[in-house]
Amino acid sequence: MVIKKICCVGAGYVGGPTCSVIALKCPEIKVTVVDLSKTRIAQWNSDKLPIYEPGLDDIVKACRGKNLFFSNDITTAILEADLIFISVNTPTKTIGNGKGRAADLKYVEGAARMIAEIAQSDKIVVEKSTVPVRAAESILKILSANQKPGVSYQILSNPEFLAEGTAINDLINADRVLIGGEESPGGQAAIEELCSIYEHWIPREKIFTTNTWSSELSKLAANAMLAQRISSINSLSAVCEATGADVSEVATAIGLDSRIGPKFLQASIGNYLLHFRVDLVYHTFVIYNYFEHSCLIIGFGGSCFQKDILNLVYICECLNLPEVAAYWQQVVDMNEYQKSRFTSKVIQSLFNTVSGKTVTILGFAFKKNTGDTRETPAIHVAKTLLDEGATLKIYDPKVEEEQIYYDLTHPSVCESPEKVKSAITIYHDAYSACEKSHAIVLCTEWDEFKTLDYHKIYHAMMKPAYIFDGRKILDHQSLIDIGFHVQTIGKTLQRPLLTRFCGGNSCVH
Ligand code: UDX
Ligand code: ADP
Repeated sequence: MVIKKICCVGAGYVGGPTCSVIALKCPEIKVTVVDLSKTRIAQWNSDKLPIYEPGLDDIVKACRGKNLFFSNDITTAILEADLIFISVNTPTKTIGNGKGRAADLKYVEGAARMIAEIAQSDKIVVEKSTVPVRAAESILKILSANQKPGVSYQILSNPEFLAEGTAINDLINADRVLIGGEESPGGQAAIEELCSIYEHWIPREKIFTTNTWSSELSKLAANAMLAQRISSINSLSAVCEATGADVSEVATAIGLDSRIGPKFLQASIGNYLLHFRVDLVYHTFVIYNYFEHSCLIIGFGGSCFQKDILNLVYICECLNLPEVAAYWQQVVDMNEYQKSRFTSKVIQSLFNTVSGKTVTILGFAFKKNTGDTRETPAIHVAKTLLDEGATLKIYDPKVEEEQIYYDLTHPSVCESPEKVKSAITIYHDAYSACEKSHAIVLCTEWDEFKTLDYHKIYHAMMKPAYIFDGRKILDHQSLIDIGFHVQTIGKTLQRPLLTRFCGGNSCVH
């Protein structure tokens, strides 16, 4: 079979960008991305795509209507396709057996049943969505049980390794493409067909083929290992605070080991911040000498890391491997701990109460260059501050207002939506969001936050004005020079050395 037509079931963060790049790189192949949601397909066919991803708009504009189509006509797309990607959502189960941990495969099952019902000719069905190990077996069972005479299926696993915000580059310059399939001749032939698509732009040596279960497990394992690195460095940030070590220096030092490498350790320039603050107290000047550090790692977010590790934990438990399950569970627990530590630090710094205070949240997406808020640490920060009685002013360059309201009033985080709605205001620029606030909590590392006029912001804020840089992107020394109190995790905050000037003579208290 030579693949001439591809159908992708699911027009989300994975299916949309992946198929846009396939269409760009394989102009002779017709790629149709289908979805149950009419709104989503209408957005893909409009000037405002449903997801923000740098570079995506240009690719969609170049291919849409030529060899790239977005459609709700699932039947036609499945009927004519030689190869079908399943790119539907696989959220964590919220009810029943495995609730809170196991992947909910209802959408994958739904897609498989649709294919079984519609298909009239041989198909290669490719799992793109992240699924538990041996999910391909379930898909095959559904397809085989409903097989029409003369129709045969090959199931492949081809997990996606794109990260949001860099998806287009990750797809075009992939570190590797992983394809798992049956060891039978039919399975190997199907692997070759899929290889031939990627070979349009990925060198063959970067396409790694395995058996189906290795491929499925590798996706979970890759995400678990990446998240584990973040939790490891985050756990060390707590040790740094207790010992006087500096987490940025530690991260840089260990990352210089070529066996470890610097990525996903969030290593950054470790700045010692000398903070001299001058206050007028009873007609005397008090000089506080603060040593602060700029490394503050807020915890990982996103739709994949937590979900995939919990899924791995559940699989280990089902396989009667409790020690392995406990090992991976700790990665998620450490992330929760880090988020709580950060938020507690914000509250403690604001004199242990935020009730009646206004706090600005800069950035709501789980990372920069995406409008995605799934599992964003900003939800945890906002929820805790709201529970403590704060009023929130929120600004994110790409997250829609309705999404923020949805996230903060969702029953899983809030009991009283009306109360929450009255306590938050969404802004369309950072300056208005910071006006009259007591503190700024920076939750997403958007580039535009680095170049804001912080003099202007400082003068419009309540005093003392605080900044909690959750992403280590700001120039803390400049902020301190302006007059801000800058807070951080990962380095011991030394208590002030108190020096008073009395009529020009200094006397130390
Ligand atoms: C991840 C994987 O990287 C990708 O391969 C997989 O296909 C999907 O899951 P994604 O969740 O989109 O991608 O983004 P990623 O860049 O991995 O970041 C995840 C979270 O970790 C973000 O909240 C990010 O801010 C955080 N992070 C990342 C850190 O806290 N520290 C780091 O050093 C790196
Ligand atoms: P991901 O991040 O994995 O891409 P998303 O939630 O962004 O997940 O996208 C998954 C998409 O799959 C959604 O737009 C959803 O409507 C779609 N979907 C789920 N089940 C089906 C189905 N049976 N047929 C078509 N589309 C589906």
